[in-house]
Amino acid sequence: MIRHFTEHPLAEMNSFHVREHSAHIVEFDQPSDLDTIFAEGNAPGKWFVLGGGNNILFTTRYDGVLIHPVGKNLTIIAEDEQTLSLRADAGIEWDDMVAWCVERGLWGAENLSLIPGTIGASPVQNIGAYGAEAKDIITRVNYFNTAEGKHLTLSKEECHFGYRESIFKHDLRSRAIITSVEFTLHKEPRPNLGYGDLQREVEARGGATLANIRDAVCAIRRSKLPDTAEIGNAGSFFKNPVVDAAIAEDLLARYENMPTYPAADGCRKIAAGWLIDQAGMKGYRKGNVGVHDRQALVLVNFGGATGNEVIALAQEVQRAVFEKFGIRIEPEVNIL
Ligand code: EPU
Repeated sequence: MIRHFTEHPLAEMNSFHVREHSAHIVEFDQPSDLDTIFAEGNAPGKWFVLGGGNNILFTTRYDGVLIHPVGKNLTIIAEDEQTLSLRADAGIEWDDMVAWCVERGLWGAENLSLIPGTIGASPVQNIGAYGAEAKDIITRVNYFNTAEGKHLTLSKEECHFGYRESIFKHDLRSRAIITSVEFTLHKEPRPNLGYGDLQREVEARGGATLANIRDAVCAIRRSKLPDTAEIGNAGSFFKNPVVDAAIAEDLLARYENMPTYPAADGCRKIAAGWLIDQAGMKGYRKGNVGVHDRQALVLVNFGGATGNEVIALAQEVQRAVFEKFGIRIEPEVNIL
């Protein structure tokens, strides 16, 4: 079913709670609805997919069409002794699927508990947390190609997943509307507790069961990340920068406690939260906006902020990090 809204307020549809409007919002629940929405001669000129609105910053009224998937079917498509595969519609809340898997004893999604957002958004930036990424369980992505007017499928390999990266941010940017995602989960335990304090938190709960891992991840997230229901934010505002090994070594010689992680092609990923923290910006507040005091990677709207106030703060943070470390940190959030 298609539903069409005009001049619709966006405050409740973006986790920053910025008070902008969209000229049009078109909701759909069936993939075939997109054939109607993008029918020849009738296709919207300017559009953007709005999922849960958790990774977006509106800086002005949106003068195009926000396409909003609301389909919520979750279907088991294959099962054998070791695995279970399912297809989840784009409009399902990511954490509802994680909870579904954990309740049924299926391994693979638990480290990604409580990540805000919808299934349809998960492949776009290959969401990740606590040593796991969506790509570890995604097998296929079904989408509507607006340039060709066709429903197509990509295998995991064809999605070109990387750290907060996929083909949907590059070759398929502005031409793909994800309708459903297929995942394969495992029936045998395969705990992945290598990241940070996770092992300790899980042991404190009695060991590596699915329920304990989910509970530990939720507790860690709740302790560091502000609840969007109370304070506007979009999770990590910046990506962790990936730099050449030589640059990382040079910085490590000066800052031996700087957290770094291996990245593709011998590069190193640096914790941007640490860089912002060390640049003295953690807890910094300017008017309605600020840098979260428990996780410096998160910018917050204390209430009533405009998107442009958030941008101005982001630029101030980028400048502070660049002046101290010579590194440019880039937004992870979509800015419209
Ligand atoms: N750190 C600081 N100060 C801070 C924040 C972090 O010193 O204010 C240090 C921490 O002590 C730690 C390191 O930086 O040594 C990394 O911090 P953390 O484990 O909190 O993770 P992160 O790299 O800052 C990433 C993801 C988060 C995800 C966590 C946990 C990105 C951009 N962010 O943050 O994802 O929850 O790892 O896996 O990769 C999101 O994308 O919205 C998000 C919240």
